[in-house]
Amino acid sequence: MKAVFGLQILATVTAFVAASCPPHGPESRLQRVNRLTKVQPSRHIDDILSEWDLNNVTLAAVRAPPVNWPLPILNKNWDGVKFDINGTIDLGVSYVERAAQNGARLVAFPEVWFPGYPKGVINTDYPNSWLVKHAADYVNNSLVIGDNNWNKLAQAAVDNEIYLAVSVSERVKNHLYMTQLLIAPDGEILIYRHKIRPGGRERDLWTDGRLEDLVTVVTTPIGRIGMLSCAEHSYPEATFITQAQTEDIHIAAWPLTPPFGNYSLGYESSEVITALASVYANVGNTALILTSIGSSTIYPGGASPMWTRNEDSDPYDAVPIIHRDVNATSFPKKTYNANSKVSWGSYQNINQGFPDYIPDDMGTFIPWNEVTVESLYEMST
Ligand SMILES: *[C@@H]1O[C@H](CO)[C@@H](O)[C@H](O)[C@H]1NC(C)=O
Ligand SMILES: *[C@@H]1O[C@H](CO)[C@@H](O)[C@H](O)[C@H]1NC(C)=O
Ligand SMILES: *[C@@H]1O[C@H](CO)[C@@H](O)[C@H](O)[C@H]1NC(C)=O
Ligand SMILES: *[C@@H]1O[C@H](CO)[C@@H](O)[C@H](O)[C@H]1NC(C)=O
Ligand SMILES: *[C@@H]1O[C@H](CO)[C@@H](O)[C@H](O)[C@H]1NC(C)=O
Repeated sequence: MKAVFGLQILATVTAFVAASCPPHGPESRLQRVNRLTKVQPSRHIDDILSEWDLNNVTLAAVRAPPVNWPLPILNKNWDGVKFDINGTIDLGVSYVERAAQNGARLVAFPEVWFPGYPKGVINTDYPNSWLVKHAADYVNNSLVIGDNNWNKLAQAAVDNEIYLAVSVSERVKNHLYMTQLLIAPDGEILIYRHKIRPGGRERDLWTDGRLEDLVTVVTTPIGRIGMLSCAEHSYPEATFITQAQTEDIHIAAWPLTPPFGNYSLGYESSEVITALASVYANVGNTALILTSIGSSTIYPGGASPMWTRNEDSDPYDAVPIIHRDVNATSFPKKTYNANSKVSWGSYQNINQGFPDYIPDDMGTFIPWNEVTVESLYEMST
């Protein structure tokens, strides 16, 4: 009797402690993002997934542009153009619905499709002539966690019972970030990350993420999913860290892929972009969704050359999205592979083999770069 009474006290104290503090110490960043995101209740994730055939999981990539995004694809003249995050969210939600109607279980959007990739920011003018005209408008069209548009994205995943991978320009207090989100079919945000190092002149607008923003691979019933953005696919520290976690599905968000065969374009060419994506799928032994305005490509896994891609000439209204079926029961769903090309062992080899003559020099590219919203407002005319 006494022992039972003691257990009851213990149970009461435990319940009190559990109710008054978070179960695992301070709230994590991801827990905070989920607390601030408001969605209508959905069915339990297990009930949703119990109806899916994992032998046939349809992946989808959007390749149509957002609202008010000047065409043709390489047009960087945005005189008189205003961003429209409200309209773009509504268009994006309609594409989520369309993908779901086509049977998709995961749909991915290009880089900062919300509110739109600012092509003109890539130029050679100092100060950045595009930002002088558009910086304030861009700040005002960036999303904030838990705002109406942010919640609409999470709700679209719930309403369509689909995994939704988006890239958004996000405002966090005095900074903008290039943020990637993976939202589950029950509305839970599984991945929230900032691009660690916006590339080139993107660094005039967005602030760098931190290394913690790379550790993103999550286990889901359809496989382990990770995300990177654009030039991150050419940063060894980014690809190594995600590939070492053995993804089954990798989401690669690029802003735009111009028509193939334009050899004046260098790193902006579709040849270079699809080469980076194809190598990533091969080295990482993963299915890969390259989502980009113009042409998107879905690689079914590893070294398979049998990818799915739209034609450059496909009109956006006829082909806004591409689809590809994969067999998710064949994915390893392992958190690491000690014998892969990208492993703890190969990481030790890099450390041991790194040439002694290279000085310990961080350079100017790697250190954290910030751009304040104040400075963006100040430069706007
Ligand atoms: C976007 O919608 C919000 C309401 O959700 C409204 O307050 C805001 O004015 C709208 N923005 C534009 C540019 O229409
Ligand atoms: C796989 O799912 C897609 C989308 O629902 C469907 O169009 C296709 O016919 C399915 N394939 C098989 C082999 O069942
Ligand atoms: C941006 O928002 C600020 C604060 O609401 C406002 O004062 C400013 O006029 C807006 N600028 C543009 C270009 O929309
Ligand atoms: C090729 O790229 C250049 C930019 O470097 C662009 O001006 C030109 O219009 C492009 N050509 C075609 C056929 O798209
Ligand atoms: C999917 O892969 C599993 C495991 O490799 C295999 O047993 C199954 O037959 C495959 N399903 C289809 C429809 O090919």
